Amino acid sequence: MNAIVIYESLTGNTKKAAEYIVDELIANGVSAVASPTTDVDYQSLANADLVIVGSWTDGLFLFGQKPASAGRLSQIPFLAGRQAAVFCTYALDTGKTLEKLEAIIADRGAEVIGGMAIRRNKLQEGSAEFVSRLLGVVTV
Ligand SMILES: Cc1cc2nc3c(=O)[nH]c(=O)nc-3n(C[C@H](O)[C@H](O)[C@H](O)COP(=O)(O)O)c2cc1C
Repeated sequence: MNAIVIYESLTGNTKKAAEYIVDELIANGVSAVASPTTDVDYQSLANADLVIVGSWTDGLFLFGQKPASAGRLSQIPFLAGRQAAVFCTYALDTGKTLEKLEAIIADRGAEVIGGMAIRRNKLQEGSAEFVSRLLGVVTV
């Protein structure tokens, strides 16, 4: 199975989570690469059976939360018919960030099979848990 993790990151947490997710996928025998939304590796995206999209929680901490850079996320190409999963990193409270991210990716034609919020002080543990849950439901 081939996977790509496409992420949006401002201060590096979501990039780190994306890299932990890639490491964990590789440790489980899945070929995986990470790409920022600003420089998507289109060859890997074209070959991916599983597309994982991550962003960070942008809001007023207890309300108005949304995935950061939704505009860029909604332009990721070639998602029709793909299995996809989403994650967001956050500090305190994600509100509906994950649901909003799922909706953006589902709108691109992907079949969203799961999502997880990863707290910024638990990036490695959260990323490992996300991958183990994902590998339990992915069907390719
Ligand atoms: C402008 C701004 C708004 C934020 N709003 C929220 C928020 O509403 N809720 C929350 O839990 N974290 C919030 N955060 C924290 C970030 O979501 C968190 O630090 C995240 O891991 C940052 O990811 P990054 O390092 O990849 O940019 C905010 C951070 C910034 C810079």
